Amino acid sequence: MEAASFVTFGQYLRPNFYFLLLIFLQNGPPIVEGVWPLPQTFTSSIERYPLSPEAFYFEYGSQSAAQQGCSVLDGAFMRYFPLLFPDYTGNGVLRLYGDKPFHLVVTVDRDDCESYPHEDSSERYNLSVSARQASLNAETVWGALRGLETFSQLVYQDDFGSYFVNKTDIADFPRFQFRGILLDTSRHYLPVQTILQTLDAMAYSKFNVFHWHIVDDPSFPYQSRTYPDLSSKGAFHPMTHIYTQSDVRRVISHARLWGIRVLPEFDSPGHTKSWGKGQSDLLTPCYKGSSLSGTFGPVNPILPSTYQFMATLFKEVSLVFPDSHIHLGGDEVNFSCWSSNPDVRAFMKKMGFGVDFTKLEAFYMENIVNITSALNKTAIVWQDVFDYHERIPKDTVLHIWKGNPASYKAELSRMTKAGMKVLLAAPWYINHISYGQDWREYYNVQPLDFPGTEEQKKLVIGGEVCMWGEYVDATNLTPRLWPRASAAAERLWSDEKQTSSVDKAFPRFQDFRCKLVRRGIRAEPLYVGHCKHEYQGR
Ligand SMILES: *[C@@H]1O[C@H](CO)[C@@H](O)[C@H](O)[C@H]1NC(C)=O
Repeated sequence: MEAASFVTFGQYLRPNFYFLLLIFLQNGPPIVEGVWPLPQTFTSSIERYPLSPEAFYFEYGSQSAAQQGCSVLDGAFMRYFPLLFPDYTGNGVLRLYGDKPFHLVVTVDRDDCESYPHEDSSERYNLSVSARQASLNAETVWGALRGLETFSQLVYQDDFGSYFVNKTDIADFPRFQFRGILLDTSRHYLPVQTILQTLDAMAYSKFNVFHWHIVDDPSFPYQSRTYPDLSSKGAFHPMTHIYTQSDVRRVISHARLWGIRVLPEFDSPGHTKSWGKGQSDLLTPCYKGSSLSGTFGPVNPILPSTYQFMATLFKEVSLVFPDSHIHLGGDEVNFSCWSSNPDVRAFMKKMGFGVDFTKLEAFYMENIVNITSALNKTAIVWQDVFDYHERIPKDTVLHIWKGNPASYKAELSRMTKAGMKVLLAAPWYINHISYGQDWREYYNVQPLDFPGTEEQKKLVIGGEVCMWGEYVDATNLTPRLWPRASAAAERLWSDEKQTSSVDKAFPRFQDFRCKLVRRGIRAEPLYVGHCKHEYQGR
């Protein structure tokens, strides 16, 4: 409700009054510390060092397990150079007179350069900036990536365009292991380029999971090797609106280079209308009275052929996507078609389910979870599956998407009490928009603020920002996502106590948003104001 009252102030007071009010609320002038999300421990001083693009070197420490040739770090050095020196157009060969070299020395404990980030990967790093040298130490290359991002946010330019970095010491690690963004590529197709740009922007906020809600009712853009008809008949267009195997590989390898996991979702038994176009007998035929109505409902859970199809499809998916987790959906199953179908009703009777269709749904989900666990993948499912059926494998991750704070807190309590791992998405449905600063609500979410023991709290593995695609395509994705998603990013990365004030965060958030704009991301403004470097794109 706080955000709502802010909107009212914003509408009726003149902007300069509003700012005075804001400063008053903050008890003093804003301190802009330019790192978002806020590092766990951060000390900086007013001692500043000039940096020159002509004399700046990324370097592997002599003790580093990874050395030159490390794909993740070599790639990161290439990407961060222009982010550190956005005005620089030279080729780095010319040496300006008097420039003293500055070395950023990166040391990692493990050579995990060719691996994929996974759910237990350490992202911890220490960064120490002093005269002529910065040292960045991390256990893994993924931690080094997070540290490079932080370093890039410490560098600033004065009014003459010269680059500086202040003396700084940072020891940092994420509060939650899973910090995700969901993109929906079924309701609208998102070009691969758009997904890759989103991955870049995710890394700027230290997000580490791309949840790819790749198919749904409206379209099936994933081009399957084993079932090519799924996309040739189920996509919006069989050639232009699909993700080929090489598109998917591009997304996964781009994500890897930023330390981002790609979590695919193949949602069933509901949300599958598009699947039915390319795979006959997969969906349940609905009846009107005693005759077929010609329409189809959720996946048909009573046929052995359904499970053979799913086993084959998920075998492919488990090979294409290297992540240890697969999202199986399981949300919003409409029971009216199942209950209209006499064969389904006969099956229910045979199984002793009575007229409780949640039992049928649970039966289906149990089979699908067993299929994926036989493929060595851990399942993530939407909360509906647990709500209907508490008896699911203990390692399944439950994804909360429903309700207001009171109801998702009760759900957090119930699920963790049952010993289940939980992901929180409900408060971060960022596709919803409203006038004013709704990011404040996203920022104020407290994922562990629910009744439960310390052990229960440890089961909350993180959270996710969801961008459902009904009203979103490549034209408006970026300004809707950024910087609002970054509010959740700080909540999921930073220390709870140090980030308890949304007003204190505001100037730093404005500064971060300008950094996104400087990097070519069309991040929308938070409120009245300006960036030193305004958006220059077309
Ligand atoms: C960096 O140093 C400059 C001047 O030396 C100072 O004005 C500024 O506040 C410092 N920034 C931080 C984050 O300490």
